[in-house]
Amino acid sequence: VNTKEIGIGLLGVGTVGGGVARVLLEKGEVLAGQTGCRLVLRKALVRDLGRARSVSLSPDLLTLKPEEVIERPDVDVVVELMGGEGLALKCMESALAHGKHLVTANKEVMAKHGPSLLALAQKNGVEVRYEGSVGGGIPLIAPFQRDLVANEISAIHSILNGTTNYILTRMADDGMDFSVALQQAQDRGYAEADPTYDIEGIDAKFKLSILASLAFRSWVNPKDVFSEGISRLEAKDFRYAREFGYAIKLLAIAKKSGDFVEARVHPVLIADDSLLAQVRGVFNAVQVEGDLVGRIILFGRGAGAQPTASAVMADIVAVSRNIMYRIKPAGLLPMVGKLKMKPMSEVESRYYLRLNVFDQPGVLAQIATVLGSNRISISQVIQKETDEALQSAEIVIMTHVAREEAMQRALVGLGSLGVVRKINNFVRVEM
Ligand code: NAP
Ligand code: HSE
Repeated sequence: VNTKEIGIGLLGVGTVGGGVARVLLEKGEVLAGQTGCRLVLRKALVRDLGRARSVSLSPDLLTLKPEEVIERPDVDVVVELMGGEGLALKCMESALAHGKHLVTANKEVMAKHGPSLLALAQKNGVEVRYEGSVGGGIPLIAPFQRDLVANEISAIHSILNGTTNYILTRMADDGMDFSVALQQAQDRGYAEADPTYDIEGIDAKFKLSILASLAFRSWVNPKDVFSEGISRLEAKDFRYAREFGYAIKLLAIAKKSGDFVEARVHPVLIADDSLLAQVRGVFNAVQVEGDLVGRIILFGRGAGAQPTASAVMADIVAVSRNIMYRIKPAGLLPMVGKLKMKPMSEVESRYYLRLNVFDQPGVLAQIATVLGSNRISISQVIQKETDEALQSAEIVIMTHVAREEAMQRALVGLGSLGVVRKINNFVRVEM
């Protein structure tokens, strides 16, 4: 019989916090077997004491005051699952300063303040773990810190946001409306409290910054990660992409070459038969290129209560075992590199362009001249839907590799051509 107890303090009992509380309550025996002690939920912070929850907790476990969780002497591990930056960061700093171990799934705080929190933890002789912050239930932080350490990693191509991958899948496969698909993702607990973080690529930017920092051992500030979301995409883009043999995904890409790192999140056309194109719904995937291991792909559910609780519980058990067996953790691998960020203007890509033009002779020649004068060469052109009454046509162009800077100049040039009614969309093409 395990008599020793490790006290857990929860900050937040929402989608993920509710999932974690359930596991703590329902899997007590299994966890005790793995940890060598009992994991006991001592107190949980919420915003609204009366709110209906996915887990039934005795009212005296709930509090509105963070200090009643963090400062309780019988709380050994503080588990931050409230989200956001302000209060969450304050609570995390306070927990570490009070000598509590910290487990979190907060990618915003870890991306922006990871280095200072890790330093604070080291100073106070405690641990910070954040497996749940990236890729939901997929083990990612641990593999980058342990299993891949002997590798020089050159590239990460990843799908890191479950909400947008769910929306893109529903739009592409079922022709579902963007707003209906988003509502479904919210109902399933995938989306952030403010879903613009998902839709505009901000959530994926935080996650990419965490993974790239671990992969390249040099802190990648999320401020230096380019991000664009999926709100510009229309049903037509999926249709046309498919005709060219592509799927559209929101990819988070990081590459290292020499002393430079490029890190970007944006919609991408990728070959229909690539593995990342097969990642559907809430699933995420991270494709890594290492010099020893070659290419690997880590795949699984990227959001939702249970998959994320799986990752958070792994951290709680790891910290608790270290407490139980008095193991002093070695600390995280140092991120001492001083790599420079490549500006987005210097990134190279192929492009898909969808233009609405006047359907008249010489239009294509004018468009080709603008692209050519920016050293962008066309690989394919298709003329789509023609509207005789309006004398307009839709043209879809695929280019060869060009510099982002050149493409941005070309877009300005195309926009000022009298024959171009509207630049409907442009999407980068990868792989
Ligand atoms: P959520 O459902 O909105 O839950 C947030 C919880 O924190 C709620 O219990 C809320 O209390 C509490 N809370 C928020 N602000 C508070 C405040 N100012 N004072 C006291 N309590 C406060 O969020 P979630 O989806 O579980 O996400 C939590 C964290 O996990 C975020 O950092 C998120 O990015 C991350 N994450 C989420 C997922 C996912 O699939 N949802 C996956 C991976 C990581 P009330 O319940 O009383 O409102
Ligand atoms: N909102 C996030 C997503 C939750 O959809 O991926 C998982 O981090």
